[in-house]
Amino acid sequence: MTSLADRPVAPAPEDRDVEVLAQALDDAVAALAEVTDPSGQRVAQALRSSLEDVHRAALVHVVRRLRDDARGKELLFEIVDEPVVRMVLLMHGIIRPDPMTLARQALEQVRPQLQSHGGDVELVRIEGGTAFVRLSGACNGCSMSAVTMRNGVEEALKAQVPGIERVEVLPNEPGPTLIPLGEVGIRTATPERGWVRSLPIGEFTLDAITAVELVPDGAPAVDAIVVNVGGQLSAYVNECAHLAMPLDDAELDTSDGSLTCAHHGYCFDALSGECRTFPGAQLEQLPLRVEDGEVWIRVSA
Ligand code: FES
Repeated sequence: MTSLADRPVAPAPEDRDVEVLAQALDDAVAALAEVTDPSGQRVAQALRSSLEDVHRAALVHVVRRLRDDARGKELLFEIVDEPVVRMVLLMHGIIRPDPMTLARQALEQVRPQLQSHGGDVELVRIEGGTAFVRLSGACNGCSMSAVTMRNGVEEALKAQVPGIERVEVLPNEPGPTLIPLGEVGIRTATPERGWVRSLPIGEFTLDAITAVELVPDGAPAVDAIVVNVGGQLSAYVNECAHLAMPLDDAELDTSDGSLTCAHHGYCFDALSGECRTFPGAQLEQLPLRVEDGEVWIRVSA
């Protein structure tokens, strides 16, 4: 029998794989949920929240100090890409999770199966807890295999993207988020719930970023930006996907369609919001449409 002294020493936490650490944490949280004694449960929950609060406060302080210093910014930029650092910052809400990238990864896993049956799927957007997709080829229709493929897409998205509760299939036509100004028509439909009128279309300067405050009925105001690249408009929540700093002072480069955050230089595709600097990041895009020369933006379901 191996004595305690002969057993291999467990690696220090910093040497362990991030998935092992995350699993240990999940196991501990699951074990805590199974504690049946109510007072024990309360004490354990209070301890957990206090520890999380202390860690979050310290991390926010560290991130702010690093952000305010030139060399610190560079370091922050580097260490935020470390899986364990990223996991902890995400856990504490200090950097934003990236549902679009997670959803795309989930769809990549089911795509080979769809394509082997003559179908395909495209992720259009995520709003609240709903992922909107377009299906093509054999995924359409009501045959048993089409239904099975659609269920596979839904299961993959719900299982792999935290917060996704519903998957909606959009008709196969251009989405409403990017509208070439030259093709804007007059529509008379009554705005649906969640749509907020922003500004007349002429006020969105060509090749520029315009900040707008959107105030939906009965809900808090949302700060947004509208990016006009060569007459195509895209709207985003006015928060960088890196550390949620505002983007209205970002640099828009129409020669390569990029939007670069003024704070730490994360670079995004101006029309899709996809991050070019760090593939795991994505701006939160808001659906946009034009009616009677006015630009409407959807901020809630
Ligand atoms: S907040 Fe850091 S790059 Fe935008």
